[in-house]
Amino acid sequence: MIENEWHRQWRELENSGAEELFFNLVHPNTLDTFKGKDVLDAGCGQGKNSRIIARVAGQLTAFDLNTADLAADRLAPYENVDVFQGDVSDVALNREFDIVLCIGVIMCTKDPRKAFLNLAGLVKPGGRFIIHVYAGEISPFIRYVFDPLRKILIGIPFLKRNMHFVSRLATLICSPVFHAAHKLKIRSGLWGYMAFLGSLPFSGKVDHVYDKINPNTVRYISKEEIKTWCREAGFEIKSMNNYHNVAWCVTMVRR
Ligand SMILES: C[S@@+](CC[C@H](N)C(=O)[O-])C[C@H]1O[C@@H](n2cnc3c(N)ncnc32)[C@H](O)[C@@H]1O
Repeated sequence: MIENEWHRQWRELENSGAEELFFNLVHPNTLDTFKGKDVLDAGCGQGKNSRIIARVAGQLTAFDLNTADLAADRLAPYENVDVFQGDVSDVALNREFDIVLCIGVIMCTKDPRKAFLNLAGLVKPGGRFIIHVYAGEISPFIRYVFDPLRKILIGIPFLKRNMHFVSRLATLICSPVFHAAHKLKIRSGLWGYMAFLGSLPFSGKVDHVYDKINPNTVRYISKEEIKTWCREAGFEIKSMNNYHNVAWCVTMVRR
């Protein structure tokens, strides 16, 4: 059987710097935000974010369509955690949560609006919905050059099977550009993200590059789309941060 691309990614990656990345993505939320709360981590991957939250949450429920086995292994030491396999687009749980967290998942589904609305329905009135999605306002270079190229790349079975090697090689080749952007403190457009990559150790860069090359499905979601979905679902936006010009990190509260 061919291993699912996400399963391979989360089995292979080292995930150095997971904690710093998590707090950057969920800012202005902090560990205190999750203290004692009933939290849902939707599309939990190998459970790296769940592990951070589990330290303080009252109860944590985590699910993923492809990697529930990896997450269950990693989260086994935590008594307050339940893990199962499920799809963000149609998971139906007969209860609501204080906080629903969905980092880097909605944009990898076939119908991001459906996934958003389904998860929004699992938040208690007054509860928080925290998401991270790739931004529709992303550089045209990513949409029209990088994305078509990477689709050709991941269509080649040998390269797809050796994505960790491909990511390390791509990182090695691109590192001088990342470092130059970092040293020159260039912050505009895609350079802002490259400057950020330039600040990371090699393994951290590889984690990001792998994550960008690997997905079979990627959608880019604009600020306006998110605002429209929010209104539709009856949420108020508390914060909407642009993450290095490539993603939106949004915290919403259910009315
Ligand atoms: C970029 S990873 C993010 C994982 C995790 N949230 C994190 O931040 O480490 C995307 C994850 O979404 C999962 N995924 C993709 N489509 C999904 C779906 N329809 N339902 C649930 N999980 C899904 C993948 O299996 C993968 O683990």
